[in-house]
Amino acid sequence: MVREKIRSHYQFNHRALKMECLDSEFPNPIGIAAGFDKNGEITKSLIDLGFGFAEIGTVTPDAQDGESKPRLFRLPKDAGMINRLAFNGEGADRVKMRMKSMGNVSAPISVNIGKMNQSGPEDAVEDYVKVFETLYEFPDYFVINVSCPNTPEVYDESSPERLSEVFGALQEKNRENKPIAVKVGPDYGSKEKRANLSKAIEVAEEHDIKAIVATNTTTDHSQIKSKHGQEWGGVSGKPLEQKATETVEYIYGMTDLPVIGVGGVDSAESAYRKIRRGASLVQIYTGFVYKGPSLARQITRGLVELLEKDGYASIEEVVGIDCKEA
Ligand SMILES: Cc1cc2nc3c(=O)[nH]c(=O)nc-3n(C[C@H](O)[C@H](O)[C@H](O)COP(=O)(O)O)c2cc1C
Repeated sequence: MVREKIRSHYQFNHRALKMECLDSEFPNPIGIAAGFDKNGEITKSLIDLGFGFAEIGTVTPDAQDGESKPRLFRLPKDAGMINRLAFNGEGADRVKMRMKSMGNVSAPISVNIGKMNQSGPEDAVEDYVKVFETLYEFPDYFVINVSCPNTPEVYDESSPERLSEVFGALQEKNRENKPIAVKVGPDYGSKEKRANLSKAIEVAEEHDIKAIVATNTTTDHSQIKSKHGQEWGGVSGKPLEQKATETVEYIYGMTDLPVIGVGGVDSAESAYRKIRRGASLVQIYTGFVYKGPSLARQITRGLVELLEKDGYASIEEVVGIDCKEA
């Protein structure tokens, strides 16, 4: 079987990499980030390539086109990308058909939920609920995406008041108590924005949200040297890494909720850094684009070597050990 050959070539299983989180067992802590498999078309193949979990989406209630092309730019000198896709996708019903026929997957799968681009505060709650209900039985956990910098700014989705409404509405429909996480952005330059993030985490805790995904892409283009650096859109990859890691550490310091760290990971060392700064799990998008299909294997193997070198028996032991508070 081709699939088995691929698995035996790419997957690297080791007991030291297992992670218990979000009511699931993760074979390793390296996942594929939202946006890569927006419609659930290649989920199983991504797991075959050695990822320990995969996120489908962002899924919106109905199909939508997103921004016009060009809308995705590589930044080769920066090992980064700019995108302004803005939730292009086939909508929840199509994703449901795919997830229905997916069968068993050997690693946890999440669905990332978004609202339609033009929906205001009232419609937005309905949007999130519609995707949640349509896909309810399929993923191991959900992620609420309130941090995409490319969707039209109809209102501030990440304000604590709006989050409270959305979390409340989803938990009301959450009959089997499926874990729900929320995905936040990295741009907290001002005191006011930091206070907003802290409040958002408190609101998440009050509504029994089970994890924080940090972070989405950044609006900060100041570090970029490549051509296309000033195209509008969210920046991912290396130019985001430090900001994302600082956000992980900040959140780790203020809550016991697990943090899923995303932004600029492209090697065992950068994954290890995020974990040591507070991430229980790590996700990758841009690094995978640049480094190709062996990346999950390289990172998982490399993590075991790093753990052995530092004298740890398991990845769970190193979560947060480099945090200032630890
Ligand atoms: C082309 C592209 C599309 C993305 N689409 C989504 C999306 O639909 N939903 C989402 O939550 N994040 C999306 N992201 C953000 C990634 O999930 C991730 O948070 C971000 O890229 C930082 O990780 P990275 O540096 O490993 O790329 C997208 C990123 C890229 C580059």
